[in-house]
Amino acid sequence: MMTDADVRTHWDEAFHAAVVAGLSRPQKTIPCCWLYDARGSDLFNAITRLDEYYPTRAETEILARHAGEIAQFCGEGALLLEYGAGAGVKTEILIAALAAPRLYVPIDIAGDVLARTARRIEARFPGLKTFPIVADFNHDFDLPDNLPPGPRIAFFPGSTIGNLNRREAAAFLSRLRRHVAGRGKAIVGIDLKKDLATLLNAYDDAQGVTAAFNLNLLARINRELDGAFPLDRFAHEARWNEAESAVEMHLVSLDSRVVPVSGQYFAFRAGETIHTESSRKYDPADFAALATSAGWRTARTWRDREGRFSVIGLDAVS
Ligand code: AVI
Repeated sequence: MMTDADVRTHWDEAFHAAVVAGLSRPQKTIPCCWLYDARGSDLFNAITRLDEYYPTRAETEILARHAGEIAQFCGEGALLLEYGAGAGVKTEILIAALAAPRLYVPIDIAGDVLARTARRIEARFPGLKTFPIVADFNHDFDLPDNLPPGPRIAFFPGSTIGNLNRREAAAFLSRLRRHVAGRGKAIVGIDLKKDLATLLNAYDDAQGVTAAFNLNLLARINRELDGAFPLDRFAHEARWNEAESAVEMHLVSLDSRVVPVSGQYFAFRAGETIHTESSRKYDPADFAALATSAGWRTARTWRDREGRFSVIGLDAVS
């Protein structure tokens, strides 16, 4: 069995490997999962409360306003599987609306977050049992055999699917399809394509919280991997990539310099960037095609009043 120290070592090694490999590429890139250390998670929570960052508010509005219809779509006695156990108030809105939910199954890589989530849901919904599963939902894994019977609903809010590329998103939706088995459904939040000013402002707010979130990755590398990035010589940039239909976050080197990380040296030209996140914005038809390729049928589409965000109800195709 892995001890906590083993898990830490595993993650330290994985972080080191991701940073060294990513900084060695022609387009330097570090996967966005590494943005979320304790400070990164706090900064992300602060982002969700910003005026410019509409997705959290828009999705919460949809879940609250259409809770009855969404619950009807989900049916009675469901097992609710949530991928990533941090959606808080959104999960509570959905559970409160569901008819006699049988079990809440949060799935997350972070055991401490899972335990806190399970305790919170049990306290808020006395009588609802929880079954936390520690797993990295971005990779293949099987659900335990001893889950009780009943229709399964996969819940993936937050437009986190937008942080996956097309191939990863298709693989993720196929995984969900396998997890819900024959009669299952899924509720997935997607951010919609819209005017560039709204999109770019959401990822480059006036207070600089998103900039701090992005730059925190360099602070993390300095602290955990013995790096020497001068934080005041790198700048946050949000840019639109039309071919990928995504807002990208980059860290721009303001000068030409060489930066040591764990005893290796990485050269930057002035203006060269590290790509740290892509946030894909979907066209509803495009998302429906992606879902179809993964064994789903788009059964319902709900939108916020301003039409910025969509919650999609998917039916498993047998
Ligand atoms: C978690 N994820 C869906 C957020 C997004 O919008 O892509 C992360 C984020 N990055 C910058 N702001 C928010």
